[in-house]
Formats: sequence, structure tokens, C-alpha cells
Amino acid sequence: MRTMDVNAIALIPAAPATVRSRDTEYPYRPDSNFWYLSGFEEPESLLVLIPGRKAGEYLIFCRDRDPEKETWHGRRLGVDGAPDALGADDAFPIEDVDEILPGLLEGRQHVYHTLGKNPGFDAQLLGWLKRSRMTRKSTDDPDAFISLDYHLHDMRVYKSRAEQKQLKAAAKLSAKGHVAAMQACQPGLWEYELEAALVHTYKKAGGDHAFMPIVGGGENGCILHYTENNAKLRDGDLVLIDSGAEVGGYAGDISRTFPINGRFSDAQRDLYEIVLEANQAGIDACQPGNHWNDPHEAAVAVLTRGLKSVGILKGNIKTLIKKAAYRPYYMHKTGHWLGLDVHDVGDYKIDGEWRLLESGMCLTIEPGLYIGEGRSVPKAYRNTGIRIEDDVLITAKGHEVITGDVPKLANDIEALMSGG
Ligand code: GLY
Ligand code: MN
Ligand code: MN
Repeated sequence: MRTMDVNAIALIPAAPATVRSRDTEYPYRPDSNFWYLSGFEEPESLLVLIPGRKAGEYLIFCRDRDPEKETWHGRRLGVDGAPDALGADDAFPIEDVDEILPGLLEGRQHVYHTLGKNPGFDAQLLGWLKRSRMTRKSTDDPDAFISLDYHLHDMRVYKSRAEQKQLKAAAKLSAKGHVAAMQACQPGLWEYELEAALVHTYKKAGGDHAFMPIVGGGENGCILHYTENNAKLRDGDLVLIDSGAEVGGYAGDISRTFPINGRFSDAQRDLYEIVLEANQAGIDACQPGNHWNDPHEAAVAVLTRGLKSVGILKGNIKTLIKKAAYRPYYMHKTGHWLGLDVHDVGDYKIDGEWRLLESGMCLTIEPGLYIGEGRSVPKAYRNTGIRIEDDVLITAKGHEVITGDVPKLANDIEALMSGG
């Protein structure tokens, strides 16, 4: 509320539940901004912030208790329990929102609300404004809608101590899932069986998957967001897994690539070592005061040198980097913010310049190489996708890798897979 002007009001609706098929719904996931501010996990709710009124008010509209509905659909916090449970100043039944909201909007010059994210709520809000316009002087109407995202997303970039704890828990559980998948892996299994090992690990610990796991054997590892996970795992291929657990709303995001039969071939190891060195170079560049793109630039330099060393690229290294010659084999950036959303919110540039890394920020480092069918590529390297992804917290003096519980050195992976 301190970042808003006193004559404003902020409206943050809960995410609507989404139908999966006829009368069954997808598992409910709160809107991250709503969750960040309230910790409340029920749909059909609205969070209202009114700075300047008393000490600034935090109101919540939610479903009231209803024994019959709760028998069918599950427990509700209810209006009476909400203020204490959520730290709100007051709570009202969501059924009364049409009666109460126009009054709260009265005299408020600025409405902080992100239009376009929740069309049902946007329509409701326009209805309230229309109604209040019919009953009052138009000078009372708000004269601007302001996106709350600018302020809220910047707050979310700096993780509090409590958030860092959740991120570490998510990273730890993600690592445990990857270890389980490595241990379960053998030729002849299907990609979805490794997905099951990951999700089993997450759910068994009370977590969930933060996004659909990617389990790509052989050439499927070259499809960046492959989620079919329905192919057989072949002896002699690598498998690329990109998966993370969600704990307390916060996401882990790890990629590991390993040999399905437990032993890297020489050609696989050549490429693997390049990506591993790029991963380490990216992590080393995660220092407070460095800018957002430093880890990417460090990773690209290593990948380019490596592609040249195995004969896939030819020419002067500086020129190859300048011309982005690595692009056909490395077409994404080296990381993203990590938080309540796996690709978390927050600007990467400020006034056109890369943002500086600061203590409390959390990001991924995930270089890869995706070598397709290209004729210029030596045969032994074709159809190989490798990504190695870790989650990194920026600290006051450097950084902390929070995904260290799953091996990434080739020898350590082989030892784990052989039961060592
Ligand atoms: N799975 C998407 C990512 O790693 O960013
Ligand atoms: Mn990932
Ligand atoms: Mn990622």
C-alpha cells in the first residue's frame, strides 16, 4: 500500500477454477499475485487494498461457510475465520461483492488492477463503475486504471527469508525426484515411467510438479518443451529430464541429462562436458553487481568454444560468438527468474539496460546443446539433446546453488546409476 497513492484502491481477484472435462476441474492453483499477498488458496475470492483509510485497509471477499456445499466440495475458511487466518482487517461474503464494491470505489481516483488477465472479473468491475456512474457525479469516477504488476512484480523479484526457505525446499524435493528418476532408469522403460518416478517423489512429500515434466529420450531431448513423454527409452541414448517440484507455491526447476543405460559413450561425454562447463561458467557469473546477461554471455562463450572443439563450428571464436553461430544448437537464453511462477515475474532490463543481480534474487542457469540431424555435424553427435539446469540464489557476497542434491558430474551420475 505504501507504493500506491492514498487516493487509490487495489483489486486482486483469485484465479477462477478451470474446467478440465465437462464437470471435472483441473487441480486448483491460486493466482500467484493473489497468493503472494494473502496466502489464501480458495477460488471465488477478492483481495482489496485501500491505502489511506485508517492505517490502510486490507479486505477479503470469500465464500462463506455452507455445510451442504462443504459436504460436496470441501472445506471453506469462511468469512468469520478469514480476518484472523489471513491477517485481513475485515472480510465479507463474495455474494455481497456487487453491493459493497461500488461504495468502496467511490472517490477513489486510481484503480490498481491488471486488466485482461481475468475477463470475468474485468466485466464485473466495469459493471460496478457503470452503476456508480448512474448514481453519482461523474467527477467521483476513477480516472485511471493502473497495473499493479509493476510494483508487485518488482517486490516478488526480491525473495524474503521465508520465500528463500520455500525455494530451497522446492529445490531439494526437485533434486530428490531427479535422483529417483536416475535410479529407476533402464533401457526398455517408457519416458512416462520416469515422469511417474518424479511425480511420485513430489507427491509423497506433499508437493506437486511445478510444471509438466519434460522427459525426452534420444532425439526427443532436442524438443525444448517436449511433454508427450510417451516414447520408449533406448539403450545407447541419453534422456533429458527437465522437471521441478512445487512446495508451498514455490517452484524448483532442474534439468539433468544422463545415459539411459547408465554409461556415457565417448561422443555423449564430449558434448556433456561442454554443457557442464557452460553450466559452471554461468553459475560462476551469478554475483551481486554482475548484470542479468553475464551468465548467458559466459555460457555462450564456453558452448561456442566447445562446438568448435568437436568440429561442429569452424572459424574464429570471437567472430562465431558475434555472429551467434551457436544459435542452431543453443536457441534459448541461459535462465529466468524463479519463484511462485517457474518463469517468475520481474523485469530483466531497466531503462533498456540489463538489470544488476542483487541479494535475494533467484534464477536458473540452464545451458544446453541440441544437435539435430545437420549434415555438417559428425554422425556420433547427431540427435543429441543435453541441458543441465540449476537454481541459484544471489547472496550478499556471491551465490548459493540450491539444487546441489542431484549429481551432475558424469562420473557421479554413472556411480549413482550403477547403485554406487
Ligand atoms: N522447463 C522450462 C524451463 O526450464 O525453463
Ligand atoms: Mn527447467
Ligand atoms: Mn528453467
